[in-house]
Amino acid sequence: MRSHHAALLRELLPQVEVGVAPRLDCAALFPLQPREIWLEVGFGGGEHLIAQALAHRDIGFIGAEPFVNGVAKALASIEKEGLDNVRLRAGDAGALIEALPDRAISRLFILYPDPWPKRRHKKRRFVSAASVRQFSRILRPGGEVRFATDIDDYAGWTLRRFLDNPDFAWPAQRADDWRLPWPDWRETRYEAKAKREGRRPVYSTFVRV
Ligand SMILES: C[S@@+](CC[C@H](N)C(=O)[O-])C[C@H]1O[C@@H](n2cnc3c(N)ncnc32)[C@H](O)[C@@H]1O
Repeated sequence: MRSHHAALLRELLPQVEVGVAPRLDCAALFPLQPREIWLEVGFGGGEHLIAQALAHRDIGFIGAEPFVNGVAKALASIEKEGLDNVRLRAGDAGALIEALPDRAISRLFILYPDPWPKRRHKKRRFVSAASVRQFSRILRPGGEVRFATDIDDYAGWTLRRFLDNPDFAWPAQRADDWRLPWPDWRETRYEAKAKREGRRPVYSTFVRV
């Protein structure tokens, strides 16, 4: 690891890290009261998280990622851009979500989660009936989940789990609604790789009713 990245993990991470104590106080996370709080699960190198945070300075962002090199990259961008609206959890997003109060989040991004394609590994997928119940709890009514994957089977799996939960609506009406990304989309590193390898992304939106 580059020495600057090691220094960021040592010095900047403690200043922006979100703990997972029960009943996390979201209002205390940011220096200014954000209009809304958006959460990104598994942000990888942070490309999408940082682009969103730059585009929406009045929104508070929380990103969760266990991959330490990815956390270091996101910290480098936070430092370079002087962002005060991004907080990080260097670890499992599940524990963070459990600690979040009800209705704390207005938008949840799950972008290219690990696909776990083998049948016996599918239970490790981040999207499950239980996690969708947690998403329902932390999202405010009208809030949304934005989910992207390049694995058709994971797209179908996720759709099934959201359709099975009456707290969510799937507003898609035509194929372009899942073939085209959102207007403020910033391609992620994993998406670029998937496209190079000939896989087509699916973009799904689920609204908390
Ligand atoms: C396929 S990569 C996609 C990364 C990024 N979203 C992108 O599109 O470039 C999946 C990411 O999810 C992270 N991840 C896996 N399990 C996780 C969990 N329980 N909580 C948060 N992130 C997780 C991995 O470390 C990895 O960075």
